[in-house]
Amino acid sequence: MSAPPIDLRSDTVTRPAPAMRRAIAEAEVGDDVLDGDPTTRRLERRVAELLGQDDALFFPSGTQANQTGIALLTRPGTELLLEANAHLVHYEMAGVAANWGVQIRPISTPDGLLTGDLVRAALRPASPHVPRAGAVAVENTHNAAGGRVLPPEALAGIVQVAGDAGLRVHLDGARLWNAAVALGLPVSALTRGVGTVMVSFSKGLGCPVGSCLALGSGDRAFAWEIRRRLGGGMRQSGLLSAAALWALDHNLSRIGEDHEHAKLLAERLAAFPAVRLVPPETNIVMIDLVRESDTAETVLPRLARAGVLLVPFGPRRLRAVTHLDVSRRDVERAADLMAGVLS
Ligand SMILES: Cc1ncc(COP(=O)(O)O)c(C=O)c1O
Repeated sequence: MSAPPIDLRSDTVTRPAPAMRRAIAEAEVGDDVLDGDPTTRRLERRVAELLGQDDALFFPSGTQANQTGIALLTRPGTELLLEANAHLVHYEMAGVAANWGVQIRPISTPDGLLTGDLVRAALRPASPHVPRAGAVAVENTHNAAGGRVLPPEALAGIVQVAGDAGLRVHLDGARLWNAAVALGLPVSALTRGVGTVMVSFSKGLGCPVGSCLALGSGDRAFAWEIRRRLGGGMRQSGLLSAAALWALDHNLSRIGEDHEHAKLLAERLAAFPAVRLVPPETNIVMIDLVRESDTAETVLPRLARAGVLLVPFGPRRLRAVTHLDVSRRDVERAADLMAGVLS
């Protein structure tokens, strides 16, 4: 029997560990829409404290939490300023336009890193002929930029410029845990001055489902209404929150291993002349194919047949993501198998 493929498509492919499943089975639950679920409330309070925010609300997905954050910070007919390759631009089904009547104002950067100066340059002068800005969004780590970390100084600059313009900032922190580990800082050091923060439990933390939106106490009631409108009110949600609480206790402290594995994979791949890499800062390795004859469409099936699963991130770009369910040995084996296809 051949070995199962090494799945580096995403950090969302992890399966809940037996101990996490036990925590789910034993969770104390209530009806979170009717009068509250005690485990979910415990998770929300813990996340709020971790992120240095007043409160938090549990969501079934990061997309729904992001969308709710944008609804809180904008009005219809305004613009959302954000980096041009952000998740909110490309992977949320035009949600900010379709849901809230908000226009995306993408800001191009060479490396995915937004700055206060770039936001300032994108602000339109007040005029009755152009739309008003509604809010600014940032993403940390930046997925499409290869898991790049937005340093706290850059965030502080963005918060300052936004605040001067009367705008609030939403932080898409699906992988904020990875950014904090990479910087060796508490997560709360990466959220200063932002209005709403989304964090995900179903990526590096290995949960089956779930995200939180951390926010100011004055925003919680309206966020609750929007979540309900979007169909995100969940009943015995403590089953899912128990997994997240378990993950904060057991999986947060090991995220650095994923970063070491990404670095190891990049070091091994750097020896292949057929590829060029974006040096990984966290758990994502972007692999650019340099040979004329290689495209994502032709190379991915060959890699899959060799036993390594990746996803395309452009016509000649592949993405590999390290996670809880791949060991150092798996990564070494993946590099060997990739060598057979790419060298
Ligand atoms: C940066 C970023 N933001 C938001 C999301 C959305 O999360 P979900 O898949 O839980 O909706 C993702 C998911 O991949 C992501 O990578």
